[in-house]
Amino acid sequence: MEDAQQILNWYILAGVDEFCADVTQDYVHNKAAKTAPKTESLPAAPVAMRPATSLLAQSTEAAYVNARKICSQAQTLDDLKVLVENFEGCALKFSANSTVFGYGNSQAEVMIIGEAPGADEDRLGEPFVGRSGHLLDKMLTAINLQRQDCYITNVLPWRPPGNRTPTDGEVAVCLPFLQRQIELIKPKIIFLLGGSAAGAVLNISSSISQLRGRMIDYTAENGLVIPTLSSYHPAYLLRTPTQKAKVWADLLRLQRKLAET
Ligand code: URA
Repeated sequence: MEDAQQILNWYILAGVDEFCADVTQDYVHNKAAKTAPKTESLPAAPVAMRPATSLLAQSTEAAYVNARKICSQAQTLDDLKVLVENFEGCALKFSANSTVFGYGNSQAEVMIIGEAPGADEDRLGEPFVGRSGHLLDKMLTAINLQRQDCYITNVLPWRPPGNRTPTDGEVAVCLPFLQRQIELIKPKIIFLLGGSAAGAVLNISSSISQLRGRMIDYTAENGLVIPTLSSYHPAYLLRTPTQKAKVWADLLRLQRKLAET
């Protein structure tokens, strides 16, 4: 019993806060479950280990080197999507339901980057489709942009359990995938939503309240220089609507930049 409690504590510490199955189970009224023998013996045959197990043990550095190598093979977004879906160097992949790759126009002038998929995105496999996504759509419409005109992605393609903040290691391992998306899209401007996205792309530790509203150049590994504009994350705006005026100013700045030739 103590062991079971310890295992449960370990799951909670790891951020596992939901039980997922393909079919809904009514454990309360399920007679079969109630009448099942109390002491079920464990299967005698060894349970097949998921191939992920050894890869999960990969050091962050090895996983990062692997991610970079994979990215150098991707000549198109479609190639990259398949490579990310098959990548096993980030443990988040194994608690997530979907790999949420970028969505939208591959020729977009505006690339929008958030932190990581939430529960809705994880379920539907597309970035920014939950409450934050609806607000983002409204923000874009206010400056005459549509979601499908932009390219929308996240720093991480997998949902951290319980929406916890991604660790530095998770960001480091997944960053090459984001950087390759930037090189392939070559947008006119990158709109960074929230501190995680701004910190990861710009490689600075300043707070989002210091960075928002500022236009800062991002230099890709291939030498391409792209202006970025940081702003507050829509999820933060949903919690703190008093900050909407600042984001409106940022959106107008984005619009002005796009109007420049
Ligand atoms: N928050 C994000 O940062 N990205 C999403 O895709 C959804 C919510």
